[in-house]
Formats: sequence, structure tokens, C-alpha cells
Amino acid sequence: MTRSYISGWGFHVPEKVVTNDELAAIMDTSDEWIRSRTGIQTRHFAAPGEGPSDLAVPASKRALQRAGLTVKDIDFIIFATFTSDYYAPGAGVLLQHKMGFGNIGAMDIKMQCSGFVYGLSVADQFIRTGTYKHILLVGAEVQSTALNLTDEGREVSVLFGDGAGAAVVSATEEDRGVISTHLHSQGEFAKELCAPLPSTAKQPWISAEDIEQGRHHPIMNGREVFRHAVNRFPEVIREALEANGITTQDLKMIIPHQANIRITLEVARRLKIPPEMVFSNIHKYGNTTAASIPIALSEVLAEGLIEQGDYIVLAAFGAGFTWASALLKW
Ligand code: ACO
Repeated sequence: MTRSYISGWGFHVPEKVVTNDELAAIMDTSDEWIRSRTGIQTRHFAAPGEGPSDLAVPASKRALQRAGLTVKDIDFIIFATFTSDYYAPGAGVLLQHKMGFGNIGAMDIKMQCSGFVYGLSVADQFIRTGTYKHILLVGAEVQSTALNLTDEGREVSVLFGDGAGAAVVSATEEDRGVISTHLHSQGEFAKELCAPLPSTAKQPWISAEDIEQGRHHPIMNGREVFRHAVNRFPEVIREALEANGITTQDLKMIIPHQANIRITLEVARRLKIPPEMVFSNIHKYGNTTAASIPIALSEVLAEGLIEQGDYIVLAAFGAGFTWASALLKW
């Protein structure tokens, strides 16, 4: 039976590091508030002119190198981002050009924090059916340019950072790789966390007045997001385990989307597992949305925290609301 597995991985964050104190110098917040409410200490912001497709290039090169492949070997690109360089076309085609791939297909996935797991699910289907052998799956975001870095935007803007993570998803006949994926959405909560503009439902898509009023920034009902996240994460992790007849005892590690350290700790508490089993690097990068899981996975592997044969779960929750999990045998 053909399965898909992650044969290469890598990440890249922009050079510029922004500390909590630097944010506190431009808005009414503090290092203490941000650390205690979110666990975030620093995040990276892209340079002017740097889009997610640019951040994706070094991440993708590292993933290809790790897989021992060249651009010629890649059959398809899946690019998860909600902050694509252009409103249209998506970032996948830009990456196809910047990496010098052949004229292969490039698909964007706009599923916010769940984008990487949704993308893995799509890659897995293409590989199981024998359509493709090697797929480049990227999660990359430049969110800093959309943030409201003033007092009014402080609840949202202290949370997010920029970055890119990549994985090569390859075919294998071995007993390893993606075991199952589980995808969900609940659009009734779309307005609780969204970037409402530009909107094709209005004319013009975005106006000078919209910008004047700050309506082009993302908006979030933090408490509502928190409440749903701490339920959906454990639920979708259990779904992955139960679908395969295993328990948390069989798991080496959970690699969740990095939203907030308090969400991560609550997920561990609800699953009755030690907090160390739920990986966290949010202190360094903040919430990088679709990039957070592949960045975290790259760091887990660099730190030697998982070995071949280990079961791991990737899990995400985010805007939509969307949530998703994937059980992998490494
Ligand atoms: N600095 C200082 N004070 C702030 C800041 C800030 N950056 N932001 C908000 N506050 C103030 C508020 O104005 C409010 O003041 P008030 O009490 O006078 O009205 C107060 O802090 C709110 O404090 P708490 O109730 O203690 O905040 P809470 O514990 O709800 O934490 C937070 C807020 C961190 C946003 C939390 O709700 C959260 O993490 N929600 C999830 C959000 C999230 O993860 N979003 C990411 C996208 S979705 C995803 O990735 C899963």
C-alpha cells in the first residue's frame, strides 16, 4: 500500500526580531502582560517588500536538501497561507517561479492556522492515489504588515509573527507516514476572527475611508477563540487516536499550532498528558498561523525529540473556525 511521509523539512523566519518591549514602546502593552497571557517573548517581522513566497524559498530549499531531492523531482506545490503576496493569484505560483520548478501545478490553501494540516491531507490523497510522488507543502505568512500596531489593535497585534515552514511529502511503501487526517470547519464563527478586507462583497473592495477607520486590520474575539480552541484541540486529537485504535499512551508527541502557551497547557491538562508532550516554541516566533506547525516540526526534528517509529499528532485550530489533526508514524 502506498502511503505518504514527510521526507524533508525546513523553515525560515525573517531576520528582524521584535521584542515585547519594542511593542510596548509603540502601544499600551507590556512584556509582563504579553508573556503571562500568551507565552510570547519575541516574534519576527518581514522586511519591506518581503512576502510569504520569499520566506518560503529558503524554507523550501532546506526541505528539498533534507529530502535529498532537486527541483526537478517535485511534482506539485501546495501553499498554505492566508496572507498571499497578491490578493490573486496565490503564493504557490510565485514559489513555482522563484524556485525554478517546472510547470507543475501549484495550489493555494486558505485555511489560516489549520492550513498546513489541510494541505497535508490533500498531499496525502494525491500520493495515496499514485498521482504524485513528491509534493512540496509550504505554510508561510507575512502578517506583520496587516497588524494594527497601536493601542486599538494591541489585543491582536502582540500575538502574531511572520515565517515559513516547508515539508516534502513523498510516497513510500513502508509502514510509516500519514496514517489519517481529520478536517473540520464551523463558519458560523467566521466573524470572531477574520481579516474582513478587501471584500468583493463591497464596492470598492477597500476604500480610503476603510483604511482611515482601520477596518483593514484583522479582528478577533480573543475570549471566544480561546474557549473554542481549548475544546477543539483535545477533541480533534482524540478523534485521530480513536480512529486508529490508539491512546495518548502510544503517542510520543503532539505538535500543535502555536496560538498561545495557555491554550497549549490547557490541551495537555485536558488530555491528561505531561506538558512536555505538547511541543511549544511560541516564545520565539509568536503565532505564525499556517507556518507554525512546519516550523515547530522542523525544530522538534532538529532537537531529536522524535525517532523513526514514533507516533505523533499534528493539531490545529484557527480562523473559520477550522480545526484539524493528522496522525503520523514517523
Ligand atoms: N496589552 C495589555 N493589555 C491588553 C492587551 C495587550 N496587548 N490586549 C488586551 N489587553 C487588555 C484588554 O483591554 C482587557 O482590559 P480590561 O480588562 O480593562 O477590559 C484585558 O487586557 C483583558 O485581559 P484578560 O481578560 O486577562 O485577557 P485574556 O486572558 O482574555 O487574554 C488573549 C487575552 C491573550 C487575547 C486571550 O483571549 C487569547 O489568547 N485568546 C486566543 C487568541 C488567539 O490565540 N488568537 C490567535 C488566532 S487563532 C489561533 O491561532 C487559535
